Amino acid sequence: MRFHLLRYVVLIPIAALGIATASAAKVAPSPHAVPQRDPLPGDASRGADIYEAKCGACHSLDSNRIGPKHRGVFGRRSATAPGFHYTAALKKLNVVWNRQTLDRWLQNPTAMAPGTAMGYRLTVPQQRADVIAYLKQQSPQR
Ligand code: HEC
Repeated sequence: MRFHLLRYVVLIPIAALGIATASAAKVAPSPHAVPQRDPLPGDASRGADIYEAKCGACHSLDSNRIGPKHRGVFGRRSATAPGFHYTAALKKLNVVWNRQTLDRWLQNPTAMAPGTAMGYRLTVPQQRADVIAYLKQQSPQR
């Protein structure tokens, strides 16, 4: 499985260098896919379960808890959920949350924003992709 994923990650950039039209079809399988270095497609319904199980202790979509509320987080600038008191570390980060930045964050928040209060890491790439798809799906409303 791990070998498989590695191959996928290596092959996509190589394909991208190939013949434009043929490889474009492979690299962008759906209109919802986000371009560039997005290694895995996510599944929002699997992501909902993972969110509940792994993020739900600290986060919810619509209330600030130990962590900030998440509805709208996809596409939002970091540290801007209304009413949540962020650490200085996260305030300094200043990124827009998208597939790439969320993937980096969930892999290792402390590496991205040293001193952040979120120490939780989601180490399985497919689970990160699924949770990110879920956050994206839940983001347009507010
Ligand atoms: C143990 C508690 C805890 C868990 C578990 C946790 N988080 Fe967090 N999260 C936090 C805290 C606290 C912050 C705010 C950090 C700060 O201010 O430095 C945060 C911040 C974030 C942010 C930045 C939000 C913003 O408004 O900029 C995202 C995105 C995020 N978490 C996603 C997740 C996801 C997805 C999961 C589950 C895979 C998760 N977190 C699990 C505590 C947690």
